[in-house]
This record gives sequence, structure tokens and C-alpha cells, in this order.
Amino acid sequence: MTESFTPKNIIVTGGCGFIGSDFVHYVVNNHPDVHVTVLDALTYAGNLENIKPLLGDQVEFVHGNICDAQLLDELVPGHDAIVHYAAESHNDNSIADPEPFLKTNVEGTFRLIEAARKYDVRFHHVSTDEVYGDLALDDPAKFTEETPYRPSSPYSSTKASSDLLVRAWFRTYGLRMTISNCSNNYGPYQHVEKFIPRQITNIIEGIRPKLYGDGLNVRDWIHTEDHSSAVWTILTQGRLGETYLIGANGERNNLTVLKDILRVMGQPEDAFDWVKDRPGHDRRYAIDSTKLQTELGWRPTHTNFESGLRQTVQWYVDNPQWWEPAKAATEAKYKAQGQ
Ligand SMILES: NC(=O)c1ccc[n+]([C@@H]2O[C@H](COP(=O)([O-])OP(=O)(O)OC[C@H]3O[C@@H](n4cnc5c(N)ncnc54)[C@H](O)[C@@H]3O)[C@@H](O)[C@H]2O)c1
Repeated sequence: MTESFTPKNIIVTGGCGFIGSDFVHYVVNNHPDVHVTVLDALTYAGNLENIKPLLGDQVEFVHGNICDAQLLDELVPGHDAIVHYAAESHNDNSIADPEPFLKTNVEGTFRLIEAARKYDVRFHHVSTDEVYGDLALDDPAKFTEETPYRPSSPYSSTKASSDLLVRAWFRTYGLRMTISNCSNNYGPYQHVEKFIPRQITNIIEGIRPKLYGDGLNVRDWIHTEDHSSAVWTILTQGRLGETYLIGANGERNNLTVLKDILRVMGQPEDAFDWVKDRPGHDRRYAIDSTKLQTELGWRPTHTNFESGLRQTVQWYVDNPQWWEPAKAATEAKYKAQGQ
């Protein structure tokens, strides 16, 4: 039996990032009666432009840090749910400097669940399939809600830690919570440090794209709009204390995705350079989202990867003012790491 929850006044942490801002757009487009308070520290990954057109009666922005307990004491009362997206989210950065990942992903989540507990606010925790580690390329298995945690990187281990905190707060304190673990997202507004936008913007700038290792690492791609509809479904219909995996059967290896991008952008499929692999690089992720689909009836709508990719490429072509300010610094960082 699913339970129905009708939120009226929610906090979205990290709502100026890639996926969190898409969720804010989703709520505005589909639930005009729900008030949204976006709490975001505007790190290098946050951009107020992502939600600026929405600010007004329905969407309010608070510039602040999820680790700030005093701010949470002022902000959380009066809200009925927290949807928690804020995180340090980039694996390569976590390898170069893990500390901010511990701070935001672990301590920040702790501060939020403490506030949710204190003010009896429902909590939805947005997490990643990377907590499960990786699968072999020839393994027919996919991750399910029962797969043991086996994170590989500083990023995924801090996300795993935060998942476990949220689960313990349910068991120990009865926190009203749900968790989702989603596969790799793509779509507009993704930071240029991430795989797909980095390749697209390199090609636009006339830089040869770069591919890690042997390029055979498999990711299970999902359009960020499908992630948003899934999170809304879990928030409003999910059973308390439960975890739901979100995925859209989008398994593709990095080499195939890069060739897809080159083809869509009118380039020869071999117009890229190989670079050394990321240490501890996970081999394959694959999600079985049967529970979410059968129990809550959720379905992805972007089932054609190539058409989602074309739309994403077009967005980066049309919006250089959004990504250009971050591009040079991002490439300088990669260059210093030999990537
Ligand atoms: N990108 C993916 O493919 C993917 C897949 C599954 C799950 N997730 C999860 O989804 C969430 C969002 O990912 P994303 O790709 O949109 O990340 P992002 O890096 O694009 O955005 C993160 C946002 O959080 C904000 N933030 C960071 N630290 C903060 C702090 N201490 N206090 C307040 N705000 C802070 C940033 O300013 C930014 O707006 C993360 O929890 C991530 O683990 C991401």
C-alpha cells in the first residue's frame, strides 16, 4: 500500500544546481499550488540563473549553507518537506580534494535530518547509484534496492554515508523519510565539468574531446526531467523508510556516447584524444527500477537517448553565456590533473 502525501510548502536544497533546478522547474510547471524555498550556497556548481525566471510568489531563494544549523532553525519551521539535492557532486574533484565532500555531503545531511526531526518535516534524500560500487561489463545483473553498498570514490562514499544516516534517523527517531538512488543524468544546465557537457562544449570551442581509459565504462543515462518526475512521485506516494532506485534503461559506454555526440555535432567519430583513466574508475552501472515502476507507477518519458542528446547539444549551442564563464577554469583544472 502506498501512502499519499500532499506537500504545500517545500524546501529544495541545491535548487540552483543541475538536477535540483530542474526539479524546481518541474514543480512550477506541474504543481502551481506548491510553494518552493530554494536553499543553496551557490558554490562553483550553483547558478542562480537556473531558477531566476521562476522567482516570485511561488519560488523564493535563500542564499545559505546546509551545514548552518542556526539558519536551518530559522528556515525549516513552517515547511512540510525538505527535498535534499545539495551536494558536492563531481567524482574527479573528490579525488583531488575530498574534504568539502565530507563537509557538505555528510555533515550537511546530518544538519538537515536533525532539523527535519526537530520540526517534524518530511525528508526526501536524493542519492546516486554510485553507492553500490560497480558491476563487471559481462555481468547480466543490475543494481536493485537490495544490492549491498560498496562505494569506490570519496564522492560515492560520502553519498553512501549520508544515505546510512538518513536510514538510521528513520529507524531510531522515526524520521519521515524516503531515499532515491538515481543513475547518471544528462540534459540542459549541467556543469561543463561533467562528461557530456564537457565534450559538447569542447567541440563548440574547437578543442578535441578527451576520453578516459579505454572508453568502455558503462553508464545508465537518464534525462534529468525523468529524474525530477520520479523524485516527485516518491515524495508524494513513496512509502516511509523506503529506498527507490531511479533509472531508465539507458546503458551506454562512454565511447559510444562520445561518438553519438560527435555524430550529432557533424564531426568525424574518431575526432577525439585518449587520456589516462580516473583512479578507481567504476566499470559499469545499471539500474533495475522495477520497484518504482510497479509500486508507484512511474515511467520515464525520454526513452530515446539520441533525441534527448540532440536537445541537450542544441541547448549548449544556444546558451554560451551560461557555460562560457566556467569553461576555461574547468579545463585548466583537468589539464593540471593530466585529463
Ligand atoms: N549528476 C548526476 O548524474 C547525479 C545522479 C544521481 C544523483 N545525483 C545527486 O543529485 C544531487 C544533485 O546533483 P547535481 O548534479 O545537480 O549537482 P550540482 O553539483 O550541479 O549542484 C549541487 C548544488 O548544491 C549546491 N550546494 C553545494 N554545497 C552546498 C552546501 N553546503 N549548502 C547549500 N548548497 C550547496 C551548489 O551550489 C549547487 O547548486 C546530488 O545530491 C547528487 O549526488 C546526481
